[in-house]
This record gives sequence, structure tokens and C-alpha cells, in this order.
Amino acid sequence: MARPGNRLRDSLRGFGLERVCVPRRDAEIGILSEADGRFAGSQERGAIHEAMVTEPNQPTGTSIRGLLFGSVAERYERYRLDYPDELVDTVLRYAGRPVCSALEVGAGTGKATRPFAARGIEVTAIEPDADMAKVLARVTHELPVRPVVTTFEHFRSESRFDLVYAAAAWHWTSPATRWAHAVELLVDGGVLALFGAPAELKDPELSAAVDEIEKRVLPEDDPVDVHPWSIEEMAAIDGVGDVEHRELGYVATTTAAAFVGRLATVSAYLQLAPEQRADALRQVRAVLPDQVDIDATVQLSLARRVDRSVS
Ligand SMILES: C[S@@+](CC[C@H](N)C(=O)[O-])C[C@H]1O[C@@H](n2cnc3c(N)ncnc32)[C@H](O)[C@@H]1O
Repeated sequence: MARPGNRLRDSLRGFGLERVCVPRRDAEIGILSEADGRFAGSQERGAIHEAMVTEPNQPTGTSIRGLLFGSVAERYERYRLDYPDELVDTVLRYAGRPVCSALEVGAGTGKATRPFAARGIEVTAIEPDADMAKVLARVTHELPVRPVVTTFEHFRSESRFDLVYAAAAWHWTSPATRWAHAVELLVDGGVLALFGAPAELKDPELSAAVDEIEKRVLPEDDPVDVHPWSIEEMAAIDGVGDVEHRELGYVATTTAAAFVGRLATVSAYLQLAPEQRADALRQVRAVLPDQVDIDATVQLSLARRVDRSVS
């Protein structure tokens, strides 16, 4: 079996990074616990780092609804779509410089961790839910990935990263602190990449039929405690520039059962009681043909940390 070090070197070849990306020693990834300000020690690859679990009653400004995914971690891994390799190519091209290290925010089960780590990038993958993190550690154990159980709000590091990214997770972080925190964690010239793929039914009639059901079955006062962002908001952030938005068109064909399986991992459905959820999913399944096309277009926002030494 290829050793991770060789795998890393091999995957850097072709990106011209083999000479510039020197694998960090574990001790160089230092993570501080906000709770007591102590150095939490070296972060060994593959293991889950529980040292970062913070007090449940600590106010963080994060959404409780964003922390429901662990109850369906295996289902999440099975039914959520993977991200296309083109996404990684786009981010690396935008970076235009070696990307050796990355911090992933809200890594979940590692859907977006794998494609970046497979390019040899050392990914520190933070995920607050222990059940999601368990799957993450399992599926990435042969890759240069360090899963850390914490929220973004409580994550502290002595290291700076070439890339900070979040896949379908940034909207769960606190809008009050996330931008400054991301800037602080990036090296000068480092890249912030935020993306998601809403995965909606491509057929407008089917989509309308499902919307109709959701209007009836999902809570009307679906709390708007998810925090989206805009390109304008990003452009106004202190310490970043070159803000861009890209759309990467992508259609997936899946079975109706897999589509419904994916819906069962969506937070709005996770808020329902189990019988209500099962009933809602049965209703959705009933209006779908056996195969469906899903518009999985990736929406990608990019920005670069501005070099503060250049005025
Ligand atoms: C929809 S999932 C996305 C998972 C993965 N990135 C993907 O694309 O499949 C959102 C993830 O964000 C995590 N999350 C929620 N609040 C968070 C926070 N404040 N900081 C970091 N991650 C958070 C959740 O536990 C969940 O695993």
C-alpha cells in the first residue's frame, strides 16, 4: 500500500507543487482550546481530536439547527452527492500559488474533504458533531486529513492556512465573527472558498410538486437562523480582495429513492418528529418517477487574503 508521504508527493506532481509543499510535522499544527487557552497538543492524522469539544452551554452565535446532522451521519454519507473534481481545479487555479494546507469548516462526513486531500493538500477538517466526525475520520484515514471536533467559532490555531473552505456549511457559522476569523487563519494571499450545491429537481413540474408538499409539511416558521452571505458582503470584508462568484454546472441522475434518502438528511426535515418526517418523505416519493435529474450546480464564492505588507 502506498505510504501517505509518497501519495502526497505523487499527487503534488503535475501541480508543480512537489518542491514547495513540505509536509508539516504534526507538532506544527497547534490548536488552542478557547475554553482554557491551553495548547491542545499535536494533531495526529486519522485520529479524531476530541480535545476541541467545547462546553455545550457556551454561547457561540451558531445555529442549533446546524447541529442536527449527526443523527443521520451514515445516511448523509450514503445519499449526499459528491463534489466534482472540477471544483478543486477551479479553486487551485484561482489560488495561482501552491496550496499545501487547508482548513475545512464543517467537514461533515468528508464529502468535500476527500477531493482536496486527494490532491495532497493537508486538510485540517473541523466538524462539531462527533457522529459526523467519526464517519469523516473513517473515510479519510488514508489521506492527509486531521479531523478536529469543534465549531469554527471555537477553533484556534497557531498555524495559518493556504486555503480556508466550507462546503454547505458556512451558513451555519456565526455571521458576527466568521469573516474576521477566516482572514486571521489565512496566510497572506491565501484563499477563502465557500461553496454548496443545492441539489434541486431539474424538472420544474416535479420541483413545484415537491415544493407544494414541503409548504404543507415543513414548519411554516422555518426559522431563518441560517446565515447566507453575498458577494457584496464578502467584498466589504477587511483583509480580503479579488472576490468572485462562479457557477459550475453539474447534473446528476439518481433514483427517486436516493433523492428521498438525501432529503432525509436536510435540516428542515431533520427538525420534524420521526413519524412526521417519514410521512413527508412518503408523500414526496409518491410524486416522483423512479429516476430523477438533479441540478447539482456548484455555487462557489472565492476571495483572497490581501497581503498586508503591500499598501
Ligand atoms: C450540510 S453539512 C455539510 C457537510 C459537508 N461539508 C458536505 O458538504 O457534505 C453542514 C455541516 O456543518 C457543521 N456545522 C454546523 N455548525 C457549525 C459551526 N458553527 N462550525 C463548524 N461546522 C458547523 C454540521 O455539523 C454539519 O456537519
